[in-house]
Amino acid sequence: MITRRNVLKAGAAVAGTAGAAGLLIPVASGTAEAADLDPATVPKFAQAMPIPPTLAPYSSTGTADYYAMTMKEADVQILPGRLTRVRTFNGSFPGPVIRAKSGVRAVVQQTNNLPVATSVHLHGAHVPMDSDGGPMDLIAANGGTKTYTYPNDQPHANLWYHDHAHHAESENVFRGLSGTYLLTDDVEKSNTILPTGAYDVPIQLRDARFDDQGQLVYAMDDFLNRNVILANGKAWPYFNVEHRQYRFRIFNTSNMRYFNLSLSSGTFTLIGTDGGLLEKPQDMSSVMLSPGERVDILIDFYDYPLNSTVELRNAADAMPGGPADQITKVLQFRIGSTGAKDFGAIPYQMRTFPALPPATVNRSFTLSMDENGMATDMGYINNVSYDMNRIDTEIAYGTTEIWTVTNANKIIPHNFHIHLVQFRVLERNGKPITSGPEVGLKDTVNLNPGETVKIQATFTGYRGTYLYHCHIFDHAAMGMMAQMRVS
Ligand code: C2O
Ligand code: CU
Repeated sequence: MITRRNVLKAGAAVAGTAGAAGLLIPVASGTAEAADLDPATVPKFAQAMPIPPTLAPYSSTGTADYYAMTMKEADVQILPGRLTRVRTFNGSFPGPVIRAKSGVRAVVQQTNNLPVATSVHLHGAHVPMDSDGGPMDLIAANGGTKTYTYPNDQPHANLWYHDHAHHAESENVFRGLSGTYLLTDDVEKSNTILPTGAYDVPIQLRDARFDDQGQLVYAMDDFLNRNVILANGKAWPYFNVEHRQYRFRIFNTSNMRYFNLSLSSGTFTLIGTDGGLLEKPQDMSSVMLSPGERVDILIDFYDYPLNSTVELRNAADAMPGGPADQITKVLQFRIGSTGAKDFGAIPYQMRTFPALPPATVNRSFTLSMDENGMATDMGYINNVSYDMNRIDTEIAYGTTEIWTVTNANKIIPHNFHIHLVQFRVLERNGKPITSGPEVGLKDTVNLNPGETVKIQATFTGYRGTYLYHCHIFDHAAMGMMAQMRVS
């Protein structure tokens, strides 16, 4: 039984460490816990990690690609030897990969055959309001359809689509409604030195909680019990690689879990983040991903012995709630006996970011939530919870703004996601950003307890009402979400 006292003790124990980001207050849940699957009983590295299928357009005109997807329930193998009922796009868990190109519109017709209403948001995309998948812009259950138009009039980026139906997004995403959308352009493609094809692999990471029948157990704000780690929909899989360099585009699609990723030995090269490639690669030994964030990395398996293994790991202190011997494991790479050193010298310039225009408006946002560990806890931005009938921020079209965002909580981390834009992180706790993923283009930024970040965005392209919110989905569902109107 999780008590308020235990949680506070755990909070005190980690509050002084850099990795305190994962601590969130759980809602104590009753009987379901007795029948939980013990994560220690799930064999590790026993199943191969699949790559979700690429969705082919049903028609293409050269300026537009037309896709159709159906949301439906499916029974899929997440745990070795068992089937789990999930909510999917096209029966795939996670959903199929859309490969789009800047300048070519993607028109996606979504049919909802689930018993719940949904709304599909393309995270990180610059799209008209009526295709943004707002929380009230629902596709009716049991057969509703909606066509989303994604102009792709933005540079390359690693985007992802997920449910955004208000108060239901948290459970819908937990049950499987997310997929990868890789937007490329000529700038990305001009980096011919980067691995492509089978050597360029998207990975959706997340956690989950199961009962002892292998079925998902969803409870609000339940971070302590979601202790099975999934990569592309399999619990603790392995992935066969050749003795050469790979590119991995890693998405944290968890509701709440932070990943602090590293390799069991060696380093990796960070080449990109939410909004695509960085200007220059960086060698890293670990990188933190809060829910919704992405990193694009290179791992050179040529640096390891033939026929050896290396693990992708999650630092234990990033998520003190889970059993450390379980949640520190993520994915095992099995290095084969073919391949070759094929990569040129780095660092080199992968792209050039446009100069930051001068900002003319400054605003402040404070994120907070009740820390009572109760089911009635609410989340707030500037002291109010989400209200669909209220516009919280009025923005003049075309303005460049600096937003100062603070996490006012003492033990709960949050992050901050803005729809419509890719932004730049100017400062964290008063210090300029000089390295790590935050030198890149971002749409989601982490805020550990007490932290403040300064971000800059230009609101252009489309007019309308869009969201900004904490991307810890359970917090968004508790009301930590607000609306801006660009007009
Ligand atoms: Cu990834 Cu408002 O969402
Ligand atoms: Cu939050």
